[in-house]
Parts: sequence; C-alpha cells; structure tokens
Amino acid sequence: MNLMEEIIAAVDEMPPFPQVVHRAMQVIAIPEYEVSNLVEILKVDQAVTANILKLCNSAYFGLPRKVSSLKEAVVYLGSDQLKQLLLSGAASKIYEKPSEGYAVFADELWRHALATAVMSQVLRRHLRLKIDENMVFTAALLHDVGKVVLSSFVSDRYIAIESMVESGDYSFQEAEKDVLGFDHAEIGGKIAESWDFPPSIVAAITFHHEPARSPKEFRLLTELVALANNLAVMVGYGTGVDGLACRGHGLLLQKLKLEEKDVEELILLFQMEMEKTCDIAGVSER
Ligand SMILES: [Fe+2]
Ligand SMILES: [Fe+2]
Repeated sequence: MNLMEEIIAAVDEMPPFPQVVHRAMQVIAIPEYEVSNLVEILKVDQAVTANILKLCNSAYFGLPRKVSSLKEAVVYLGSDQLKQLLLSGAASKIYEKPSEGYAVFADELWRHALATAVMSQVLRRHLRLKIDENMVFTAALLHDVGKVVLSSFVSDRYIAIESMVESGDYSFQEAEKDVLGFDHAEIGGKIAESWDFPPSIVAAITFHHEPARSPKEFRLLTELVALANNLAVMVGYGTGVDGLACRGHGLLLQKLKLEEKDVEELILLFQMEMEKTCDIAGVSER
C-alpha cells in the first residue's frame, strides 16, 4: 500500500461516532421532546449515564441533594448543557486517542477543538445567524478531526511540514498536502461522511481553511467555523505550527461585518462561555 492508500485505510478504521449521541441529538432537536424517550436512549450507554449523573452532582451545579435517577438528572441539566456534555464527551474520546505525530499535541488539539466550538456558538449568537446551533457546535468541535488520522503518518514527516510552514510560503494545510498527499481538512470531511453526518457538517469540516470553496448553501456555516478556528487560535487555544498559518482572517471579518470592537466583545463572551463549557466537559481550562 502506498501512503495515500494507507491514509484512506486509516479513515475506515476510525471508531464510529457513538450512535447513542447521534440518536440523543435527534430527540433533543424535536421541540418539546419527551424526556422519557431521551432517557430510553441514554440509559443504554453506561459511560454516558455515569457522566450525566456525575455532572449533575458536581460542585458546578451545587444541588442540595444527590441525584441518582437519570431522568431527574436530564431534567436538571436541560437540553443545552446535555448537548454540550454528549458532544464533547464523544469528541474528547476521538481527539484524545493516543497516537504518534501530532499526538504530542493531543491535549492541545482537544482544547483547540472545544475552544473553536465555544467560539462558534458565541459568534452565531452575536451575529444572530439562523443556523442550527447543534450543527454549528458539532462542525466546529470536529473541524480538526482529520488531524487524528493524519497524526500517525506525520511523525517523521513533521519536521518537513513544520519547516515549509515556517518558510512563510505555505499554509499548514498546503504543507500537509504536499508532504502527505492529503490535508487534515479533507480527511476530516471523509471521516464525518463515514460517520453519517449531514452534508453541511461535512462541507464545513472539509473547507474550514478555504471557506470560499464550500458549496454555496453551506458557505455561511463554513465561514463561521473558519472564523471561530482563527479566533480560537488568536486567544491562545492554537495548536503549534497551525496557528502560524491562518489565512483570510481579515476577509472573513469583513464578510461577516465584524469590527474590532465586536471582536473584543466576542473574546469577553468567549472567555465566560469557555469556562462554563470546560466545567460541563470536565476539562481543566489550561
Ligand atoms: Fe484545521
Ligand atoms: Fe483548527
């Protein structure tokens, strides 16, 4: 097998995205869904159930008594926090998978993904965009998932990628493509496709470094993820060399009609929101 075939084979070997999370998200998306329907789905997965109860009984919620029923915990948490818990729980397992190459950054990569997801939420709200909140959060959370696969092929080629980026002539993504034959955005899109995510999420992941190439109907979502990615890097949640090569930032700001004062406001909102999400996802901020 040549390198490109090996990479494709590695995409096929990725663990599936947890069905329980997919199904739970579908129920939560229904307005005034039945809590008992959601509990039926969640209770099948012991780890998910344990996480929900753990969060509900954590100091973060400060409830006066211990909650031991899943149904009660689901009601206490409410759908927004439940969604964050379920999606970040599934994504953290994928991002934190030990591997070579970028793995030195596994923890950094996970925090970057979470920060991008939080930033995308803040942006979506600030811009009052009518794009589905779950879709935005999921696409942003998984935007760099391709790095998890490419990571194992990078190890001894990392220096080559790094020096190309440092030369200033290549973006991180261009250097990856040159050295590996694929870039992480492309591979991420293939992974999302194999997980049966909708075309909107696949497009946002595939084109997060070149939103202008995203199909028109998904372009706004892609731009949102792309900008959230850049802003997350800007506020210190970057991943090594990738952070040096964010292109088209000014253009995106212009397109979404954001001025410097908006960005300052967004960063403040992000910091508050990130703290909350880290509590929910059980992540220490730094
Ligand atoms: Fe990326
Ligand atoms: Fe990224």
